Amino acid sequence: MLSPLTRRRFLQAATLAGAGQLASQAAAPPQPTSSTPAGRPLAIASGNGLQATARAMALIQQGADALDAVLAGVNLVEDDPNDHTVGLGGYPNEAGVVELDASVMHGPTGRGGAVAALQNIRNPSNVARLVMERTDHVLLVGAGALQFAKAHGFTEENLLTNAAREAWLKWKESLSAQDDWLPPHSIQTPDVGARRAPFARPYGTINCNALDQRGGISGCTTTSGLAFKIPGRVGDSPILGAGLWVDNEVGAAGSTGRGEANLLACSSVMVVEYMRQGLAPEAACLRACQRIVTQTKMRRLLDDQGRPKFNVSFYAFNKQGDFGGAAIWPGFKFAVNTGEAESRLVAGAHLY
Ligand code: GLY
Repeated sequence: MLSPLTRRRFLQAATLAGAGQLASQAAAPPQPTSSTPAGRPLAIASGNGLQATARAMALIQQGADALDAVLAGVNLVEDDPNDHTVGLGGYPNEAGVVELDASVMHGPTGRGGAVAALQNIRNPSNVARLVMERTDHVLLVGAGALQFAKAHGFTEENLLTNAAREAWLKWKESLSAQDDWLPPHSIQTPDVGARRAPFARPYGTINCNALDQRGGISGCTTTSGLAFKIPGRVGDSPILGAGLWVDNEVGAAGSTGRGEANLLACSSVMVVEYMRQGLAPEAACLRACQRIVTQTKMRRLLDDQGRPKFNVSFYAFNKQGDFGGAAIWPGFKFAVNTGEAESRLVAGAHLY
């Protein structure tokens, strides 16, 4: 069930979108072009991005490109040993090894880069940027990504802090129905592995997107991924279109939460496409949540009312500088900075 507020916002957005569709049948809708007036500078991020957005905005106000700004912002979080969802101090995989995923997109040039399952390098976002700038590729993974990072002078370090190691040990010592292995089953079996309570395992991440003074849009998503994942598991964060998407003519979107859901719904690119079709950022995020709900059919992932047991959150803005966020479940806030010294947390909409 949509909450009253959410339902009203969703219906308003749907009405506007419907009106836009009717209008588009009568006359060609205005297409965004590179001459679209730039909105005011803006930085938004997941809720753990208060400092990141403040840093990004400070740089944008000095004239920085949005990509430099968001990377400087997320580097603060990657370097923070107390954020267990990103970089140094991130929760490790099932084997006790920290494996990081990150992606970047630079709107003005339409380029992107990413790394996945990268070990021993605390700033995977910076390596993702180098993949974009210094290779003809978009995504490097595992040992190859590490080799590439070392070739560019990154130094290896142990990213597993004592706090993260103790959390991993506690999880390992109480392994039962909380891991990711499923028994053999037919593809027709909808309820294999029914287990885990809602939100039992952290999927934290930081997504940060910004609009600079020249109208340039860039974004970054960086994460240690699902805590205690199967080694080699890659989530949505380094997959362009899933955990991050930037289109300089339309806007940007990124996500945190269950990456598998975004991988199966290509959510972030859909949020941007929904905005291109005329939805406001918040409504576009809500529609992406609804798309995930529709896509999720395995009973072990659904509660007794058929709703996902997991959460996914989206953060988006358009070229005009309108921003919004939404999640499947209530209670989430995202960080916003529109030019202030300190960022603020804004409550997002929710589907249920
Ligand atoms: N969204 C982060 C992950 O699933 O890895």
